[in-house]
Amino acid sequence: MHFLITGGSGLIGTRLCQALLQAGHQITILSRHPGVVQKKWGHAVSIISSLNEWHPDIFFDVIINLAGEPIADAAWTEARKKLLWDSRVTLTTELVARIEASHRKPALLLSGSAIGYYGDCGDASLTESAPAGSDFAARLCLAWEQQALRATQLGVRVCLLRTGLVLTAKGGLLGRMWLPFKLGLGARLGNGRQWMSWIHIEDYVAMVFKLISADDANGAYNMTAPCPQTNAQFTQQLARAVHRPAWFVAPAFLLSALLGSRSILLLGGQQVLPTRMLNDKFVFKYPQLDAALSSLARIA
Ligand SMILES: NC(=O)c1ccc[n+]([C@@H]2O[C@H](COP(=O)([O-])OP(=O)(O)OC[C@H]3O[C@@H](n4cnc5c(N)ncnc54)[C@H](OP(=O)(O)O)[C@@H]3O)[C@@H](O)[C@H]2O)c1
Repeated sequence: MHFLITGGSGLIGTRLCQALLQAGHQITILSRHPGVVQKKWGHAVSIISSLNEWHPDIFFDVIINLAGEPIADAAWTEARKKLLWDSRVTLTTELVARIEASHRKPALLLSGSAIGYYGDCGDASLTESAPAGSDFAARLCLAWEQQALRATQLGVRVCLLRTGLVLTAKGGLLGRMWLPFKLGLGARLGNGRQWMSWIHIEDYVAMVFKLISADDANGAYNMTAPCPQTNAQFTQQLARAVHRPAWFVAPAFLLSALLGSRSILLLGGQQVLPTRMLNDKFVFKYPQLDAALSSLARIA
C-alpha cells in the first residue's frame, strides 16, 4: 500500500516508517525539511514539502497525520498557540481539502490526537467516550479531531489516535529523563498524584497496524497501555530501571513559575484506559511499566 505520512520525520513517524517499509509498503513523507528526510532514508521513501505537491492523480491508500509543532517545548504565548494550532488543525483542514480534491480517495485516515483531549481529570478513569476538557491542549485536540473527522463525509474511514506518553529509548519524554535519572537526580513532580498514561513505542506501532487492517475500526482510540501510573509511581519505576534512587521533588509552585500555563502538562494528568483496543482483543507486549522501562533502558 502507498502511505502519506505527515510528521513522518518525527519520533513516532520515524519508527512507523521503519515498520511500514519492513512490511513492504511504499511511503511518501510530508516534511518541511526534505533534505533532512532524504539524508535519513535515501531513496527508500518519497518526500513532498507541501501539500500543494499532492496532485489529484496521485493515489494514497492510507494517510497517517502526525504533524504538529512540539507542544511542550516553549511557553504558550499567543504566537506559540497559533503555531501549535496551525501545525495541527489548519494542516488537517488542508489535508482533508486535498483528499476531497483527489480523484481516488484513500481508504483510511489515521489522524493524531492526544490524551490531553480529556483535560486534567484527577483520578477519573477515562475511556474513549469521556468528554473533552476545556483547557488549551484539550481544545486543540478537539479541533484537530473535528477537522480529521470531516473526511468521513468523503467516504474515508477515520481513526483518531488519542496518544499517551510515548516511551522510546531515544528522544521524546524519556529522552529528557534518562540523564537526570541516571545521575540519581530523578524527581517526582509536585505531589506526584497526577496520572501518566504511557505507551511503549512498539505497542503503539502494533496498534496502528491493527487499525490499518481492521476494516471496521473508526473513531477515537486511546493509544495507551492498560496500566497507567501516577507520577510518583512512574518516577520510582524509572529510577529502578536505571538502578538509581529518586529522592527529589520538583515543587509544583516552582514548575508553575517556570512553565506558566504549560505546567498543566506536568502537574495535571489523565488516567486513560485503552478500552476499545482491549475490547478488540489487542495483545500488549508491554502492558506493565517496569518491563517497558527495562526494555528501553537496555538500549537507551
Ligand atoms: N510523542 C508523544 O509522546 C506524543 C503524545 C501525544 C501526542 N503526540 C502527538 O503525535 C504527533 C507525533 O508525535 P511525535 O512525538 O512524533 O512528534 P515530533 O517528534 O515532534 O514530530 C512531529 C513532526 O511534525 C512536523 N512539524 C513540527 N512542527 C511543524 C509545523 N510547524 N508545521 C508542520 N509540521 C510540523 C515535523 O516534521 P518536519 O520537521 O519534517 O516538517 C515533525 O517531524 C504530534 O502531533 C504530537 O503532538 C505525541
